[in-house]
Amino acid sequence: MKLPFGYVGCKQDEVQEVLKYLPSSFNTLVDPFCGSCSLSAGIWEKYPNTSVVVGDTYETLIEVLGVIRYEDPDHISAIIEGELVDITKERWVSSVKKPNWIWFLISNIWAGIRPGMFPANKKKPNFAEKLNTPEYKRFLQACSIELFDGLEMMERYRDDPDAFLVLDPPYIGSDNTAYLGRDKKLKLDELYETIKVFMLSCKCKVMLIINHSIFVRYMFAGMIKHKYPKRYKMSGSRVEHCIITNY
Ligand SMILES: C[S@@+](CC[C@H](N)C(=O)[O-])C[C@H]1O[C@@H](n2cnc3c(N)ncnc32)[C@H](O)[C@@H]1O
Repeated sequence: MKLPFGYVGCKQDEVQEVLKYLPSSFNTLVDPFCGSCSLSAGIWEKYPNTSVVVGDTYETLIEVLGVIRYEDPDHISAIIEGELVDITKERWVSSVKKPNWIWFLISNIWAGIRPGMFPANKKKPNFAEKLNTPEYKRFLQACSIELFDGLEMMERYRDDPDAFLVLDPPYIGSDNTAYLGRDKKLKLDELYETIKVFMLSCKCKVMLIINHSIFVRYMFAGMIKHKYPKRYKMSGSRVEHCIITNY
């Protein structure tokens, strides 16, 4: 499915790997660390009758999903173009100082996935064309979209054997400044431990996707179903991602 914007940690290239390891049945799909929703969108595309709940703690991102869900792409594009009227006078533009949905889309479509300074003289994309993603819009319209903590959202489905939770939290050893930029301290080792205990004690089906490391190998010993190579677009570094399940 075509996505309208790039995002740090987007798994669009990995959906095919994930689809091979889905549980045999589920009625509800939950994506509690949803980001751009590439995983839930890819799974929903194959199982469109599933009800979908997505959440993230990144406020501007949730706002962006809400705008794309209901607004006409040409209208969004016109608002963006209005913001950009004076931009060519500046050599560098900082999207960080403008934390709203308009600048999220400008930087994540124009400059790539990383918020921050970007050269305004880089060729301007055709925003209306990039935002013209009817399938993605249909997906968002089918979703419940929530500004919510991922661990709390998981708890809601703990005892539901028909729920399938696909977890894509921030990664240990990766550059998480895009998320940390929002004044958050991410204690990822504790987050992973909580997720592991949840996976071993819940009734719902859970898939966790994270980058492989010695820490992950020990912490999730016996639960790693698959590993595949991944090359990060920004840094170019090559890593392994793994799929961990409780089913
Ligand atoms: C690896 S990214 C997810 C990428 C996503 N799968 C995609 O397709 O774009 C991790 C996401 O977790 C979010 N996040 C970090 N801490 C969170 C928390 N406590 N609860 C919910 N979301 C959180 C970040 O804002 C980020 O969007």
